[in-house]
Amino acid sequence: MELSEIFPPLGLRITSGDLALVGITDDLLPRLGEVAAAGIHAADVMPFQVPWSDAPAAELPARIATYQWGVRASFGPRAWALELAVLWRGEPVGIQALAARDFGVCRSASTGSWLGRAFQGRGIGTRMRQVACAFAFDQLEAREVTSCAFADNPASLRVSEKVGYRPNGSSVRERRPGERAVERHLTLRPEDLVRPPEPLVVTGLGPVRRLMGLAEEPQPASSPR
Ligand SMILES: CC(C)(COP(=O)(O)OP(=O)(O)OC[C@H]1O[C@@H](n2cnc3c(N)ncnc32)[C@H](O)[C@@H]1OP(=O)(O)O)[C@@H](O)C(=O)NCCC(=O)NCCS
Repeated sequence: MELSEIFPPLGLRITSGDLALVGITDDLLPRLGEVAAAGIHAADVMPFQVPWSDAPAAELPARIATYQWGVRASFGPRAWALELAVLWRGEPVGIQALAARDFGVCRSASTGSWLGRAFQGRGIGTRMRQVACAFAFDQLEAREVTSCAFADNPASLRVSEKVGYRPNGSSVRERRPGERAVERHLTLRPEDLVRPPEPLVVTGLGPVRRLMGLAEEPQPASSPR
């Protein structure tokens, strides 16, 4: 028996041209840890709601691995986080996630992502978000995809804009201890999605949908959602 038969997200593979989003199997964790340890952002900024990337570089591989193992343990119809490694021309360069609560009813998923600094600014962040959103609409029948980014994260906000998300208000949160930060909320409707240039090829979907509490096959777009 394969591990992906026990936990199907490990066997999911979404390919679009040179880019692939794949389940984060344990063999990918060391390389993803190295990419993170080499740097995700400048020390004076913090793009994440939980400031995990402030940890010393040597601790990041373990942080990522234990986070991923924890996410697996709580994956089910009431709440799931589909964490996918981003492979660019076969090389792991970051993580793209889709997460949802009560998805079978709400049909709303949120996106979150990071790339190693060496791989930023080349259009990969836009492509991986386009692929995640196209997957959410086409293969999971999402009715909206949401995202949020701190107001001082122009790269993430620009990616959202390019992919077709629209502004949907803002909120404030304590980012690092004692640090007030404005967070911008964004919503993407299926009709606004700027699709990736290459079509998606998806394998391993049925068992993932079942684990999410959905019918094994995507429902035709014309049927009531
Ligand atoms: C956010 C992130 C995933 C985007 O990936 P990316 O590969 O860098 O994005 P792309 O190259 O596809 O696009 C970035 C866009 O932002 C723009 N941008 C980047 N830095 C900018 C800045 N300081 N000011 C204005 N625009 C900026 C780029 O010009 C580009 O837009 P363009 O194509 O119109 O020129 C990546 O930068 C990252 O991992 N950042 C650190 C972690 C993070 O912020 N995660 C998201 C948390 S909400």
